[in-house]
Amino acid sequence: MTVGALNYADLSIGKKLAIKYFTVAMVLFLAQMLFGLIAAWQFIAPDFLFGILDFNVNRMVHINAMVVWLLYGFIGSIFWLIEDESGVPLVGARIAEATFWILTVAVVIVVLVYLFVQSGPGETATLWLINEGREYIEAPRWADIGIVVCMVAIFYNVLATFLKGQWSGISGVLVLDLIALAGLYLAGMFYTTNLPVDQYWWWWVIHLWVEATWEVLVGCIMAWGLIKTLGARRKIVTTWLYIEVALMFGSGILGLGHHYFWIGTPEYWLGVGGFFSALEPIPLVAMVVHSVYDAGRHAFRSNNHPALAWLIAHAFGNFLGAGVWGFMQTLPQINLYTHGTQWSSSHGHLAFFGAYVTIVVAFIYLALQKLRGDVWMSGGLVDRGRKWKWSLVLTHVGMVGMTIALLIAGYEQSFVERALGGSTWQAYFEGQMRPWFVEAMWWRMIFGVLMTVGVVLLLWDFLTIGAKETKPMLEVRSLDEEPEPEETEVGEVGVATQGS
Ligand code: HEM
Ligand code: HEM
Ligand SMILES: [Fe+2]
Repeated sequence: MTVGALNYADLSIGKKLAIKYFTVAMVLFLAQMLFGLIAAWQFIAPDFLFGILDFNVNRMVHINAMVVWLLYGFIGSIFWLIEDESGVPLVGARIAEATFWILTVAVVIVVLVYLFVQSGPGETATLWLINEGREYIEAPRWADIGIVVCMVAIFYNVLATFLKGQWSGISGVLVLDLIALAGLYLAGMFYTTNLPVDQYWWWWVIHLWVEATWEVLVGCIMAWGLIKTLGARRKIVTTWLYIEVALMFGSGILGLGHHYFWIGTPEYWLGVGGFFSALEPIPLVAMVVHSVYDAGRHAFRSNNHPALAWLIAHAFGNFLGAGVWGFMQTLPQINLYTHGTQWSSSHGHLAFFGAYVTIVVAFIYLALQKLRGDVWMSGGLVDRGRKWKWSLVLTHVGMVGMTIALLIAGYEQSFVERALGGSTWQAYFEGQMRPWFVEAMWWRMIFGVLMTVGVVLLLWDFLTIGAKETKPMLEVRSLDEEPEPEETEVGEVGVATQGS
């Protein structure tokens, strides 16, 4: 491996696949931003592209691209870490390679159909060929089945590799979580003409993904990332992971009830959903404490500064976007007013960005370091780290600005449309004509552009970081290789006992 040069040919098969997944993910990320911008502009100028690329189509492409690229990011991360973690080369490499191409071709076809066919008559053929009509997972039935087959194949790769190599705490959690993650997708696939029943099951996919299985998955990725970037002690990281997983499932599964308040489900969901979802921020606090504790213990001395910065951004973004912004609207007494306003969108944006975009970006930085021949990525980069720092700042300022703008818009809607206007059709429109709402849509647009600039800069950095560096990566000493100091021995044994 040559430091600074692209060493793709020297990578193992799993890592090569990971790079492919990351590449597609980034293309879709850019597409997500562009369709977000068009949709945001249509709030300001509703005639824009009317009849050509309607709001509903842009919105669908925007959020579907997001779901798919984040999944690509996760799959890439898993393929990247699997060989290091198991100690053996990826099992079933040919199948994995074929899966990548099948999945990607399917995604391209689905997007093209979204854009050029858009809609069809209300019959089963539309469901099979064009659009299934379930927000976030609109992909038509043929693609649904294809996706399931691909996921089974990927699961086989993961399981077979760990079975052949060695297991660890992280890989055990990962494999169990993948079963749940893939299995849940099935809940969004069967068709019923009863809308509440349909929504009831559809939420299993969406809520239980982002508030349970995806969170556990990023918990695994975070654990691994901390070991790699800081040399964190595996025992501690794994113990935290177990605690987080227990808390996450303990609150997140019944927290599902916060989507069952107003869709025609029994009334007990008000209490169950309100109570358990109010507990959901607790594991997210644990995740912040965990990562900051580990980073602090190593005096923030890492072999990959951008990755560590984005990992820390993940810890805080997850807590704020999912935990705090989610909590704000999760009690039924409050949700009665905020439901169906930009309040949810404010939370949706900060949560998806804070919890998932950040960690995939962090992981890509880890991967790029190896791709560039284990190059130096700590302080004092050739360009003084300008690109990674500016893209970090711009994406965050853009996202936080959008979030605040949407929160203000949502506040106006809750007040005017819900509290004063009593949720009538007329009040719905009145709420959106008030100055605060209208101005907020402009601010969202401005911050959206800022964020897009940040994303472009980020992608540019991905292509160039490390290229001009000549120093090899900083060696971080793993604490696992050192004898445990007396004083931590006691504390750690204490924590480990509680966790097991
Ligand atoms: C990373 C984790 C999370 C993500 C990505 C996320 C994302 C979202 C999104 C996109 C929506 C809008 C769904 C729609 O289109 O109707 C939503 C709704 C909601 N989220 Fe989250 N969320 C997360 C975690 C949480 C947590 C931890 C809580 C509670 C503490 C929470 C509470 C809510 C509530 C109450 C709603 C329903 C709003 C309504 O329909 O009135 N979320 N979430
Ligand atoms: C250029 C930046 C962006 C702009 C201008 C933008 C704009 C929009 C617009 C206009 C909508 C439709 C909202 C509605 O139906 O009222 C939307 C929905 C959504 N966007 Fe974005 N977006 C951007 C970036 C992002 C990012 C980075 C993420 C997360 C990774 C994201 C996640 C979402 C989600 C989850 C929804 C559905 C929200 C809901 O239904 O409550 N967007 N976005
Ligand atoms: Fe939820």
